[in-house]
Amino acid sequence: MIQFDERNLLADMVGRGNGITRAEIERSTAKALKALKSFRKLSDGGVYGFPHLPFQTAAIGAIRKFAGSVRGTFDTVCVVGIGGSALGAWALDCGMRGPHPVQGAFTPDRPRLVILDNVDPDFTHAAMASMDPQRTLVVAIAKSGGTAETVSTFLLVREWLRQALGVGAAAHIVAVTTEGKGDLFALAQSEGCRTFGIPENVGGRFSVLSPVGLVPAALIGIDIGKLTRGAAEMTHLAWQPDLAVNLPLRAALCHWLVWTRKAKPIQVAFPYSNRLWGAAFWFRQLWAESLGKARNRKGEVVHTGQTPIAALGTTDQHSQVQLYIEGPNDKVFTFWAVNRFAWQGKLPNPRLGLAAFDALGGQSLAKLIGAERRATAAAMTECGRPNCTVTLDRVDESHLGAFLQLMEFQTAFLGELLDIDAFDQEGVELGKKLTYGLMGRQGFEPYRDQFAAYEKKRAGV
Ligand code: PA5
Repeated sequence: MIQFDERNLLADMVGRGNGITRAEIERSTAKALKALKSFRKLSDGGVYGFPHLPFQTAAIGAIRKFAGSVRGTFDTVCVVGIGGSALGAWALDCGMRGPHPVQGAFTPDRPRLVILDNVDPDFTHAAMASMDPQRTLVVAIAKSGGTAETVSTFLLVREWLRQALGVGAAAHIVAVTTEGKGDLFALAQSEGCRTFGIPENVGGRFSVLSPVGLVPAALIGIDIGKLTRGAAEMTHLAWQPDLAVNLPLRAALCHWLVWTRKAKPIQVAFPYSNRLWGAAFWFRQLWAESLGKARNRKGEVVHTGQTPIAALGTTDQHSQVQLYIEGPNDKVFTFWAVNRFAWQGKLPNPRLGLAAFDALGGQSLAKLIGAERRATAAAMTECGRPNCTVTLDRVDESHLGAFLQLMEFQTAFLGELLDIDAFDQEGVELGKKLTYGLMGRQGFEPYRDQFAAYEKKRAGV
């Protein structure tokens, strides 16, 4: 269903300075199995919840039931959320319904998804102008219930609905947040809006298979049953103490070895599929926020992290590959391949007597994109650039669910190998608090003062 091919990470292919050996993988296998065991213990103990999400049949059933009950009523689903509360919905929409802006026609059975994940006033205004409040269901998503961007945009959208619908606005709002906690939950309760709970042990970037991703997905007509079944299959693999079958663990171990032993601080996610382009941005957050840490679990300063870059094949062959092949050899590449495209794109063969046209006529886009990916991987390998390939047989709900779960497990296992907490994000907290200080929120006065001191320093006062 999904394969991981690490052969181009090996020293035999890219040289000793850039590649790892089978012997190194074997020597580290015990460490990988230890990482698996420790993460399993944390998961079984309920500390981390994402492995359990595909099996929460009651929650999945409730979401499907709700989506069924409003089907045909709305032509637009508007997600208000940011970071882990928005990227999963985008990855799912792009994966299952094709990349924006070339998705098929929208209907009440197949509503458009609009994601308001930035507080750019022009973007927000344009998006609101493009929606009809009578025909829009707003899904406000925030685990904390108090993220400044989400709260602000929701204030605007809620008012826009109220002006058009009066008290009927509440029926056009769904809140996905921590049950019983936070300001979004309190507001939704007091106004009688439908709510879905986010499990406490599931962090934003690991929440795509919780109501955070599943509510918008079900509302736009994605089969979340198939999606979660695919993820459940990957979860079974991820618990196997055998590197030959445990794809996420093998991938995590290979990445850990190449990154830490061969000095590759940059990870390029390189999908050769526009439908996986949304997932590349979802992955970027997962990898960056989970693995970028100041300290390890012992409290030692490590400043670890591997900078993720998203590149699209074949488009970025004409933009990035020059740098990738001839620039600093500080990157590892993961190609995301698709075996079977839904449409082959068979090329006409008019025999024009022109070499470029006649060479390609009669072949297909599916063959060309595959050839370009394999050629790029070969060129990189020949130039000593380590790369690996994750292949999805096709992009459907089941493969996408399995793929997202694979990436989450791989990240969690890598966190264990690095001995860091891959599930916190202390580094973004200060900026959030300073923002609230600047916006005059009560209780955040010390951050307002800290910012004032910083400004004085900048001014040389
Ligand atoms: O991964 C994370 O935890 C973050 O990116 C959050 O998803 C993001 O900050 C949004 O948080 P919230 O859902 O509380 O609005």
